[in-house]
Amino acid sequence: MPGDKSVSHRAILLGAVNDGDVTVTGFLRSADTLATVAAAEALGVEIEDRGSQGLVVRGRGWAGLSEPDHVIDVLNSGTLIRLLPGLVASLPFLCVLTGDASIRRRPMARVLEPLRVMGAAAMGRQADTLPPLAIRGGPLRGLTHHMTVASAQVKSCLLLAGLRADGETTIVEPSASRDHTERMIRFAGGRVEREGRSGGAGLVRVWPLDRLAMETVPVPGDFSSAAFFLVSALLTPGSEVTVENSGLNPSRTGLLAVLERMGGDIHLDPGQMLGPEPEGRITARSSNLVATEVGPAEVPGLIDELPLFLLAAAKAEGVSRLRGAAELRAKESDRLQVMASILRALGVAVIEQPDGMDVVGDPGGWNGGTVSPRADHRMAMVGAIAGAASRKGVLVEDVGCISVSYPGFADAFSALGGEWTPRD
Ligand code: S3P
Repeated sequence: MPGDKSVSHRAILLGAVNDGDVTVTGFLRSADTLATVAAAEALGVEIEDRGSQGLVVRGRGWAGLSEPDHVIDVLNSGTLIRLLPGLVASLPFLCVLTGDASIRRRPMARVLEPLRVMGAAAMGRQADTLPPLAIRGGPLRGLTHHMTVASAQVKSCLLLAGLRADGETTIVEPSASRDHTERMIRFAGGRVEREGRSGGAGLVRVWPLDRLAMETVPVPGDFSSAAFFLVSALLTPGSEVTVENSGLNPSRTGLLAVLERMGGDIHLDPGQMLGPEPEGRITARSSNLVATEVGPAEVPGLIDELPLFLLAAAKAEGVSRLRGAAELRAKESDRLQVMASILRALGVAVIEQPDGMDVVGDPGGWNGGTVSPRADHRMAMVGAIAGAASRKGVLVEDVGCISVSYPGFADAFSALGGEWTPRD
């Protein structure tokens, strides 16, 4: 699997303020993560691409960052536009951030408000709720912040700012979101602690850190990308797929427990730790699935894989339910609405709910259809996986957006025996 997108973003951002050069191996070269490289360069950080040997980020601490002379364009990256304000919140210069049409619709008050409480000037369009954003940093105070929605992007933004605050910073999360930032801060020599139920509600506390001491950051394969092929194997008769080097961070792999509950034949083979992250091998074989329910406590552990759960539900015996997932409406697209339209295009009966969906499964599957991913990379890949499992094929209108997270998707799909015929 190509490198994990979340870990790749964090390796560049923390590498940019590291005390000395950091080599990032296994880095994902996709539109989103290359936007993060460009953003770090705009802040004055030198980054050298050594091809298969990785990227060398020439971090010189926070003092090595300087005012960008232009607006930073995050393209389609929600992670970049939410984490970067935290990284620069202590620095006394102006940083203006914008992105594509999807980014300019995504809620930002969730990061700007707490950053203002910490002491930064942080503004945005539409009464400080939407990009473009403008940040002018300043001396920061630690704070205690209660997140109403579990979000690793918000938590990470405040953890990055917290590294530069005058005391400890505490973030309370209603359920556990991905913890890549916490792991990487510890890997760099920092102190972050979590109290609370594992996987459940809890609080995350970070202490200031003068000097980040990383030399090499290895990036594991992206579980969220692997998930497309694992679900494809479950849904496509006669299939078996093994993913060799998938990230296995438990805060990311919630989909596996859901699929196993549905009767999915999945085998996990944990490997070694790869730097701060676990990695290993996963095998999935085609299976007869049964319906299940996914509720709010489970949602953060499979937030980006919920569309794949809904697709699997469409081929499961019985009615599956998803609840507590209103956040899906604030992703690269409104993923509840787009998934409802994709499933209906396949002939699947669904009832869209404000915070989820009911899916009436049919183990008989679907013939095919035409799906519109609305410029959302994960929706386009769901369409392709639906095509592999169909009898007649699915036409996915616009697959260009897949390069946001997985530029090699079409090649991997074809290598696994999928038919991929480009149409103009
Ligand atoms: C991400 C966190 C999640 C996820 C996104 C990547 C991250 O977003 O959906 O694709 O890298 O921290 P939220 O924090 O908004 O849930």
